[in-house]
Amino acid sequence: MKSSSLKDKVVIITGSSRGIGKAIALAMANKGARVVINGRNAKKLEAARQALLAQGHSVLAVSADVGNYADCQLLVAQVVSTYGQIDVLINNAGISMEGAIADTEPKVFERVLHTNIMGVLLPTKAALAYLKNSKGSIVFTGSIAGYMGLPNYSAYSASKMALTALVQSLKIELAGTGVHVGINYVGFAENEKDKTYYDARGNLQKMPVRKQFKRMPMEQVAYYFVKSIEHKTYKQTLSTIGKFTRFMQQYFPALFEWLMIRKWKQQQKLKHTDNV
Ligand SMILES: NC(=O)c1ccc[n+]([C@@H]2O[C@H](COP(=O)([O-])OP(=O)(O)OC[C@H]3O[C@@H](n4cnc5c(N)ncnc54)[C@H](OP(=O)(O)O)[C@@H]3O)[C@@H](O)[C@H]2O)c1
Repeated sequence: MKSSSLKDKVVIITGSSRGIGKAIALAMANKGARVVINGRNAKKLEAARQALLAQGHSVLAVSADVGNYADCQLLVAQVVSTYGQIDVLINNAGISMEGAIADTEPKVFERVLHTNIMGVLLPTKAALAYLKNSKGSIVFTGSIAGYMGLPNYSAYSASKMALTALVQSLKIELAGTGVHVGINYVGFAENEKDKTYYDARGNLQKMPVRKQFKRMPMEQVAYYFVKSIEHKTYKQTLSTIGKFTRFMQQYFPALFEWLMIRKWKQQQKLKHTDNV
C-alpha cells in the first residue's frame, strides 16, 4: 500500500479538543502524522489526548488561546521543542453566534471577529518560519457562510468571508516558497453535543441539532481535509448544500438574495407569532 505524504509529518490543528478539529486530528493520525491538538479548556483537551493515545497515536496537546499572540508563540515553541519541526498548520478553531445585528451586543461581534480572524492570523504568523522551512501546508477551515452574509450570523459570516482574503494574500506572499496554502469551505456538518454559540446577549448556548439540513459527518469533513493536504488543493467546497450555495451566489446572486429574504421574513413572522 502506498504510504501517505502525511506519514511522520508534524501537524498542528487548532481547536481540536472536540468537533471537526478532533475528527481531523484522528484522520491525520491515522495517516501516520504526529498530531498536535489544541483548545483553551485544558480538561477537554486532555480527554481528547487520551482518546487519541488509546488508539495508539502519537499526540501532543497544547492548551492555548489562538486569539492571543503570546499563547500562539508558546504553542509553536512547545511543538518545535518536542518535534523540531512543523509541517502542517490547520487553522480550525472558531466560534459561532446567532442574532440579528439590531439585537446583538457589540461584545459578541468583537469576540467572534477576534477569534475567527485574529485566531487564524496569529498562529499562522507564529508558525510561518517553520512552515517555510519544511515547505509545508497552511489550511483554513472556511464555511459556506463565507460565500454570502447570512442573516442572524452577520459577524460569523463576515469572519469566514475574511478568511478568503487572508488565504489570497498569503498565497501571493508565499509564492515560490513551496508552502501550500488552502481553504476548505465546510457546509453544514454534524456538531458535538457540547458545541456552543454566543446568543445576542453574549451568553453561551448549547447548539441545537439542525435537523432541517442534511449534515456532513465530521469524519467525512476530516477525510476532505486530509485529501486537501495530500493533493495540495487551494479551494475546496464540501457538501452538496455548500456547492449549491457557491453556485447560486456566483451565477444567480439576485435570485439567491430573494430566496434568503423570503426565508428571513418567514422566520421573523414565526418569531412574532411565537411571541404573541
Ligand atoms: N459545524 C459546522 O457545521 C461548521 C460548518 C462550517 C464551518 N465550521 C467551522 O469549523 C470549525 C470547527 O467547528 P466545530 O463545529 O467543530 O466547533 P466546536 O465543536 O465548537 O469546536 C471548536 C473548537 O475550537 C476550540 N476553540 C474555540 N475558541 C478557541 C480559541 N480562542 N483558542 C483555541 N481554541 C479555541 C474549542 O475548544 P475550547 O472551547 O476549549 O477553546 C474547540 O476545540 C470552526 O472554524 C467553524 O467555524 C463548522
